[in-house]
Amino acid sequence: MFKLALFVSGRGSNLKAVYDKVPKEKVNICAVICDKKDCGAVQFAVEKSIPAFFVSSKKENGFFDFDEIAQRLKFLSIDLIVLAGFLKKIPDFFVLEFENKIINIHPALLPSFGGKGMYGMNVHQAVFDSSAKVSGATVHFVDKIYDNGMIILQKAVDISDLKSAQEIADRILKIEHELLPFVVEKFADGKVLIENNSVIIAD
Ligand code: GRF
Repeated sequence: MFKLALFVSGRGSNLKAVYDKVPKEKVNICAVICDKKDCGAVQFAVEKSIPAFFVSSKKENGFFDFDEIAQRLKFLSIDLIVLAGFLKKIPDFFVLEFENKIINIHPALLPSFGGKGMYGMNVHQAVFDSSAKVSGATVHFVDKIYDNGMIILQKAVDISDLKSAQEIADRILKIEHELLPFVVEKFADGKVLIENNSVIIAD
């Protein structure tokens, strides 16, 4: 069984999409890691009896640091870590320890509209302000730089009819909910291959 852990910070709609759409006989969601005690994603994990762990770089009660989370995920033999709306920076040592095993979903077409501060509505507002006619979602590997790792899969959509950043966000979220479960299942099937510095998704 392919073992998955998801890092979350908020509403948890991508966590829910992965839970609902990825076949349970292929993928086991072994852990949800969150930097907040109370958010939609944690509530969802509790409802579905997925073990939830809390992470903080400060020593806070009831929170683990990234080192402890890394040990736990190693102990669980996690195959893939998904950042699904996780807002904290993943420390460099953690990225190195799980090299090519951490992916992120970004709500725009990287390499545009990415980088520090580009999360949530900031992204969609920047896209709207740019008067871009297309946007989309990107699933990519995580490296030490924000939104910089190798791109795994992208989907673009026409946004030329939309009148606000919120309308863009709503349309892109639907794309995210297709893209992320698809990519997770491809990983579980062993169909995501890195060749000559690019990512290939096999049929
Ligand atoms: C998504 O738009 C994701 O692309 C971004 O943060 C948002 C998280 O939403 N990284 P949710 O918590 O999955 O609903």
